Amino acid sequence: MVSIISGFKLILFIAAVASIISAATSATLAGRKVFDVRSYGARGDGKTDNAIAFTKAWKEACQWKGYPRVYVPFGTFYLGAVTFTGPCKSRISFIIKGTLLAPKDPNAIKQDTWIIFRYVDYLTVSGGGILDGQGSYSWPLNNCHKTLYCRALPMNMGFQFVRFSRLSRIKSINSKMGHFNFFAVQYFDITRVRIMAPGDSPNTDGIKIGSSNHMKIHHVDIGTGDDCIAILSGTTNLDIYNVKCGPGHGISVGSLGKFKGEKSVQGLTVRDSIFNGTSNGVRIKTWASPGSPNLVSNFLYKNLQMINVENPINIDQRYCPNPPCSLKSFSQIQIKDVKFNNIWGTSTNKVAVKLQCSKNVPCKNVELFNVNLVHRGRDGPAISLCENVAGWTRGKISPPSCIR
Ligand SMILES: *[C@@H]1O[C@H](CO)[C@@H](O)[C@H](O)[C@H]1NC(C)=O
Repeated sequence: MVSIISGFKLILFIAAVASIISAATSATLAGRKVFDVRSYGARGDGKTDNAIAFTKAWKEACQWKGYPRVYVPFGTFYLGAVTFTGPCKSRISFIIKGTLLAPKDPNAIKQDTWIIFRYVDYLTVSGGGILDGQGSYSWPLNNCHKTLYCRALPMNMGFQFVRFSRLSRIKSINSKMGHFNFFAVQYFDITRVRIMAPGDSPNTDGIKIGSSNHMKIHHVDIGTGDDCIAILSGTTNLDIYNVKCGPGHGISVGSLGKFKGEKSVQGLTVRDSIFNGTSNGVRIKTWASPGSPNLVSNFLYKNLQMINVENPINIDQRYCPNPPCSLKSFSQIQIKDVKFNNIWGTSTNKVAVKLQCSKNVPCKNVELFNVNLVHRGRDGPAISLCENVAGWTRGKISPPSCIR
């Protein structure tokens, strides 16, 4: 009898707890609304162009007050060029479970980027889905190695004037040009993103950033045909960690100094990352041209492993792949306060540490601290190369430093 009563009490107790939980859940669910692209006519058959359906879903979600979530389910959704514009009424999520498939023909995309988010705050793009740029059809059209004014092919996904937002758990493959582009973005977190394109695919930068600040990139795996991460004019306070880069051209600042009105690049950290089979590890490149003066400063490169990297540490202020620069002119860009701390591994070039600064504005306050880079080859052990660089060393440095 006693046990029956206490059993009854237990059931009452459970019911009470359950009703409290369900009340709490329905309270947090209030205002939460899923905008499934299928409700707007989208079809995951790999053929139907879903641009209009996606845009409609976005527009309604963007106007929703509460917790709107645009939802792309599993399936292959062929998608023409789209621009998702804000400002929106609330925080907004864009969840991609399936694959978004770009048009094969780059002419079908009449904007610089296939999928654009613009003027949005508090945006989350996530879901584990795939962006397939189908770039292999347009890579043969790329003539950028032949001409300065080459045809720009669309990038996969772009964020322009987006703040307080994040991109996570998205995979980008075979972009026509770069994969992800960030312009005028502030307070943005990029994490658990995978980027894949063949090592010989032309100009397929992984993540390209300009005029942006307070960004973080971490736990990201990039293998592509150009820079894993390219950091351009006007980028400040960028923290990069736990990145795997390779194949690719490394993590690059620049090129800078080709265009007028460029802004400084300051406050970069690259740490706890691996470069595997890349042409560069960490690189700063500025054109060997008079250009306008500019500043690159306050960088920390720390805890970086190089595995068979051609140029592990590379400051190149003599960058001149084609005119208008010439090797007789010198960069006007000041590079200063750059620390390389705990960089180790193997270099496939004999010159493992290259600090080739401008004769006009020599590099200042460059610090090497515990660098151990090995070159195995018939041409002998690794060496360092210095031009117009001032700074100091701490700890063990191999190859021996040439900084004065
Ligand atoms: C480096 O790349 C090679 C070739 O792709 C691969 O076999 C190896 O596992 C990679 N090493 C690391 C530490 O990622």
